[in-house]
Amino acid sequence: MRVASFAGVLLGVLLLAAAGFLAWSPVPLRTWTSGPEQAFRLALGADPQPVRLVIPADPPLSAMAQLGERLFYDPRLSGSGRMSCASCHNPAFAYGPAGSSAVVLGGPHVSTPGSRAVPSLRYLYRQPPFTIGPDVETGNDVPVALTQQAQAASGHARALKTAQAPQAASTNLVPQGGLFWDGRADTLEQQINGPLFNPAEMDGGTVQEVARKLASGPYAAEFERLFGPGVFENPGMAIDEAMFAIGRYEIEDPSFHPFTSKYDAWLQGRARFTRAELAGYLLFNDPAKGNCAACHLDQPSRDGQPPLFTDHQFEALGAPRNPAIPANRDPGYYDLGICGPYRNDMRTQTQYCGMFLTPTLRNVALRRVFFHNGVFHNLTQVLDFYVARDIHPGRFYPRKAAGQVVEYDDIPPQYRANVDTVDAPFDRHPGDPPALTSGEIQDVIAFLDTLTDGYTSSQ
Ligand code: HEC
Ligand code: HEC
Repeated sequence: MRVASFAGVLLGVLLLAAAGFLAWSPVPLRTWTSGPEQAFRLALGADPQPVRLVIPADPPLSAMAQLGERLFYDPRLSGSGRMSCASCHNPAFAYGPAGSSAVVLGGPHVSTPGSRAVPSLRYLYRQPPFTIGPDVETGNDVPVALTQQAQAASGHARALKTAQAPQAASTNLVPQGGLFWDGRADTLEQQINGPLFNPAEMDGGTVQEVARKLASGPYAAEFERLFGPGVFENPGMAIDEAMFAIGRYEIEDPSFHPFTSKYDAWLQGRARFTRAELAGYLLFNDPAKGNCAACHLDQPSRDGQPPLFTDHQFEALGAPRNPAIPANRDPGYYDLGICGPYRNDMRTQTQYCGMFLTPTLRNVALRRVFFHNGVFHNLTQVLDFYVARDIHPGRFYPRKAAGQVVEYDDIPPQYRANVDTVDAPFDRHPGDPPALTSGEIQDVIAFLDTLTDGYTSSQ
């Protein structure tokens, strides 16, 4: 009977090993019971359902985009002569800021501080224009006025956003789309006037001055070839064409949408997660834990479009006021996103005060400034805020003289009700356990690290 006992021992060892593997693996039990084979593959770090992603093609740049590239890197266009688009949107940092200061210095002497954190310029190619509410069917091409949309939307209850049914958000009457933290520009070709003339950014000077610089630039002949010999006679038009060219560069050049992260490789069955990355991925998608995917969409579309880690919608998260922004020294100044001060068309729609565009999380691990006001400087701080904001508000917000914590202190009291307190992980109260433990936060960060472009399988 020695053979039988040997087989018994072997079976026991195998069962123990299997139980150990189940306990070690972050794959939840319900996944094992609903699809053991898929769960097993997931537990080994592989994507159980790899897809073929539709990555934008990489044809040679058009002449327009090539001109745009030269303009993007041309410091002559700035008032100081020292600053180009790339000074703030650094290509080595996914076209985001290289440093850790909340706002970047610009202006005539590169000493005037801005008022918002520099966003990455990657993955804007599918950014929809700014609208409010569900797709408005007008039956013709006449755009519905924004204020009309906003009025229709006001008074509707917010639908809950959960990572398992992010599409529920499409019935949500919330603003979405547009460029900048407040969505105030619609297309890449249109937006660039802002930074070029903004006195705290490139501070290019007058339209005439900038047009003169274009006319005397090394690319002037190319400019005339593309836009016609009379282009410099109309300074306004010359600048519009320059902006159009930069926009084409951002849309055509693959460096603005490479999709070369480990996560993209994983989605296509070409990479395996480590245990921490897998645990983080599952927490990111769990509606009762991180619930991150409710807003930062992480699944490819049915036709294989890679996820952009944003639903393009606006939310008020109540980021703490950042004393490092000089504009905040004025206690009457508030950056309220959609309802001002950098856009003027929605000032009266106070239900949107404090709302900012959900940014992509691709390449977020390269950043040292987070949120619209750059108040956080590493991902642990960001995640700590997500899970503990309403449990330990004193950790994030200042106190009044009497000791009372001023929650959501970067929003005037009358608009604080706009802050999201219903979607996980924001649905907590003092005394509740946080949605993520500190170990789980580190797992989510390990997953966020897989979103950095430039992954090679040897890593
Ligand atoms: C001094 C730093 C600075 C310079 C120089 C600069 N930008 Fe920006 N850029 C910013 C900041 C800050 C924002 C966010 C502003 C906001 O949301 O109001 C921004 C936002 C943008 C956006 C919107 C991105 C998004 O996620 O919605 C685009 C596009 C952009 N810049 C392109 C350019 C181009 C093109 C140039 C050169 C013509 C340029 N920028 C020069 C700081 C700069
Ligand atoms: C209800 C929607 C929502 C949910 C859920 C959500 N986020 Fe966000 N996230 C946002 C918005 C909106 C911002 C920008 C807020 C601002 O700037 O004021 C943001 C910003 C961020 C940033 C800063 C990015 C940058 O470039 O500055 C990180 C990192 C981030 N989220 C990670 C996460 C993670 C991880 C989770 C899950 C634990 C999560 N988010 C859940 C909406 C959401």
